[in-house]
Amino acid sequence: MVIFKEAAQLGDFLRHKVENNLNIGFIPTMGALHSGHISLVKNAHAQGMFTVCSIFLNPTQFNDKKDYEQYPVSTDADIEMLLQAGCDVLFLPSVEEMYPGGTDKMKTYDFGYLDTILEGANRPGHFKGVGQIVSRLLDIVKPHTLYLGQKDYQQCMVIKKLIEILGLPSLNLVISPTLREQDGLAMSSRNRRLTEPQRALAALLYQCLVSIQTKQAGGNFAIVQKECTDLLIAKGFTPEYVALADANNLQLLSNYDNSVPMITLIAAKIGEIRLIDNILLQ
Ligand code: PAF
Repeated sequence: MVIFKEAAQLGDFLRHKVENNLNIGFIPTMGALHSGHISLVKNAHAQGMFTVCSIFLNPTQFNDKKDYEQYPVSTDADIEMLLQAGCDVLFLPSVEEMYPGGTDKMKTYDFGYLDTILEGANRPGHFKGVGQIVSRLLDIVKPHTLYLGQKDYQQCMVIKKLIEILGLPSLNLVISPTLREQDGLAMSSRNRRLTEPQRALAALLYQCLVSIQTKQAGGNFAIVQKECTDLLIAKGFTPEYVALADANNLQLLSNYDNSVPMITLIAAKIGEIRLIDNILLQ
């Protein structure tokens, strides 16, 4: 695996690979890698991609400074995992390399409705930062296929929209299902920050999503939503949202609607740690 810290060098290297008929598969990350990230790398590799992963803790997407400062960093272990997974290139840039003129100088993008709901409403500026960094990364790496995890479903939709805005119709977006721990907790870098008692409770988010799914036949979403919210509060969480939406466009639904593909999404804090999860309803 070759490690690059500079955008220009990586760009030159990848251009040669493309001239030699290789397809670039790209997995952007913020590090603290877990099996979910690694499954994306393995998937790209298995699809015959020349596989590029980036690790960059992007300051502009953190609306909470403390969350940024406390975000787990484990670069040595990450490199080891990427090597084992068959990753070809790791891009490990500095903040200056990604924002050469400063973070204020970078172009921002308007995601409209998508930025006003759920994560957008609860984390002001978050998707602006995601748009800035992903557009910069796409410009450097110029991938044929971009691999993302479903756990950040709204982010996947924002990036899909960004691809449209940037006019990159040939860029293929692959969204892979969320990997879970044995008790159902969605894998996430932030899970590392959970204390043992918090970790023991954390799978409640998944249980809520499953109960929303189970009660869809003839059910009333408002009732299940309240049950979940009350349960989360009773167990010491601070819920931010328990939502149901059209999976195609994230238009929020006030009740189950079997005429559209549905997704249920949840965000709650336990102590200082903010967890999110979602499942597609069947
Ligand atoms: O999902 C993430 O880890 C980040 O939001 C991303 C897409 C790498 C952009 O910084």
